[in-house]
This record gives sequence, C-alpha cells and structure tokens, in this order.
Amino acid sequence: MRNQIFFILLLGLFVVSCKNQPKPEPQYIVSGEKWLDTEGNAINAHGGGILFHEGTYYWYGEFKGDSTYWNPKVPSWECYRTETGGVSCYSSKDLYNWTFEGIALKPNLNDTLSDLHPSHVLERPKVIYNDQTKKFVMWLHVDSHDYAKAAAGVAVSDTPNGEFQYLGSMRPNDAMSRDMTLFKDDDGTAYHVYSSEENRTLYISELTDDYLNHTGNFTRNFIDQSREAPAVFKRNNKYFILSSGCTAWDPNQAEYAVADAMLGEWTVMGNPCSGKDADITFYGQSTHVLPIQGQPDAYVAMFDQWKKTDLIDSRYIWLPIKFTSDTTIDIAWNEKWNIEEAFNKE
Ligand code: GAL
Repeated sequence: MRNQIFFILLLGLFVVSCKNQPKPEPQYIVSGEKWLDTEGNAINAHGGGILFHEGTYYWYGEFKGDSTYWNPKVPSWECYRTETGGVSCYSSKDLYNWTFEGIALKPNLNDTLSDLHPSHVLERPKVIYNDQTKKFVMWLHVDSHDYAKAAAGVAVSDTPNGEFQYLGSMRPNDAMSRDMTLFKDDDGTAYHVYSSEENRTLYISELTDDYLNHTGNFTRNFIDQSREAPAVFKRNNKYFILSSGCTAWDPNQAEYAVADAMLGEWTVMGNPCSGKDADITFYGQSTHVLPIQGQPDAYVAMFDQWKKTDLIDSRYIWLPIKFTSDTTIDIAWNEKWNIEEAFNKE
C-alpha cells in the first residue's frame, strides 16, 4: 500500500514537472529577410536547390561575389553580373538552422577559359544522389560573361558537401541550355529540365543511369512561351512544373503545369500564387520545390528575390504549397510562417 501511494505521488510529480517544461520556442521562416547561417553570416546560396540525404538537408546555391556590375557588352537587356564564387553548400536538420559546409564546387581562379572562372556565369546548381553509383551528381547552368555559351555543366562527389569534381560542359541534345533544374523520380530515373532555344522553349531531357549524360529522350514543352526558373515536384503520381516568365532579374508572373509523366503532355494551369503581389510572384522567381521528409503533403516552394544591383544581397522567399485538388495548388503570400503549424493537419 505504502509503495502504491509513493508511486502515485511520484507519477503526480512527474506530470507536474512535464507540464512546467518550457515548450521550445517556435521558429519561423521570414520571407525576404536576410537569413543568417549558424555562424551569423548571410546565407549565400542563390538559384539553389535542396537535397535530403540520410537525415540531413543540403542546400546548394550560387555563391555570389560582392561585386555586382552592369555588363556593357550586353546592350539588349540589363545584364547585371557578379564574380562567380562557385557553388555553396549549407546543411540543416530542421530547415531553420543552416550550417555553412563550404564551397562544394570551387571556382577555378587560374584558368580564364574554365567554365568555373569567376568571370563566367554559374547559375542554378542542383544536386541529386545516384543510388547505383553512390555519387552525388550536380548539374548547373554555365555561361560566358554575355550568356552566349548557353551550356550545362556537370560535377560529381562522393560526399554531399563535396568537394565536387567538375567533369565539363555541353549543350545537351545539341540545343542551348540555360535556367535549369533536376528531378529524380521514385524509380531512380532522373531528368534535366532547362530553358532552350534562346529561352523560348523548355526541354525535359532524360539522364543516363549514372546521371552524367543525356539519353537522347527529350521533349520540347511550352513552345515559344519563354518559361524560365523551372522547379519540378511530384505528388500522388502527378508531376508539377513551377516556372517564371523571362524578364531577366525583374519579377514576373509565375505559372504551373501538370502532367501524368515527365515526358508526357503538360497542361498549363495558370498562376499558383495568391495574396499580396501574387501577380509578380511576390517579387520572387522560382528555383526549387522541396518535399519535406516524412510528411506526405508538405511541399515548400522556394523563390529568389533578386536584387539586381547588389546580387549578393538577393533574398529568399519560401512558402508552403497548398493542394486544392489533385491537380491544383495555391501558394499564398506569408511574411512569416512556421513549418510545423503550416503542415499540421489537425
Ligand atoms: C533570369 C534567370 C536567372 C539569371 C538572370 C540573368 O531570368 O532566371 O537565373 O540568368 O535571368 O539576368
């Protein structure tokens, strides 16, 4: 009996002490603020994408130099440029706290002819993991200072944070390649999605099993509709492409399209954005859609908010995607939000 009373008292004490435990402070994603890494430095990972690997998210992006200038050799559009600093990598377990892992793909400071020389263009790097070769494969848009080269570069690494070894560049399927993304399907087939034909038409091109080349199977999509900044994701066996229009660093209206297969027919669905400045993608431009691990319907749309005259200070906007049906989505403006609350089904 005495033992029982003692046990009940102990249990009571435990319940009370649990109740008094302070709840962890909620953390927030704040659109367009300066985001700092765990060392207090501004996160420099523009036009980027995120890979989830063995419990950790890795964010890769353009590591921009602090040197924005206007390139007078390109008279036809406002070609603001900055020195290329390679591809940065940050890691996180919770998507709020990011640790700088270093430059995963380093610039080549010595060879002025290298794609990776700081005077050239390096944009929109994306990384996927190849389960067969056990390699991390990066594709990126590489270009000459005036964007005339219009090619895709490829690099590999044994570890997610690099260092990636650059294998070279090409024009896939003999066509131009600029703004780009990668998509790895559930069966391991991977696709390279890129703006081609002077950015007028979006190509979806299947990659070889090792992800280092193109198989030659590709489709031309949204012909003459000038779509850029593609981001691809899949939900309930439907494929989605989010993209922007083509107005250099200036914002424009986003659009999304849906298909039953990556190389199938794409149906244009219109502007997914709603709320303040939805007609100009909240002053942002798409770069990636991140499925949150372990949560079936949790997808985050990632946008860059470019500052064309100070590119290194461009900001990030991440917003939750709401599925309004199997084929329709809504990306609502939200200045400040919390991942746990946004995707909590209750
Ligand atoms: C954008 C493109 C960016 C960058 C920029 C240059 O349209 O999405 O990645 O290339 O043009 O002005």
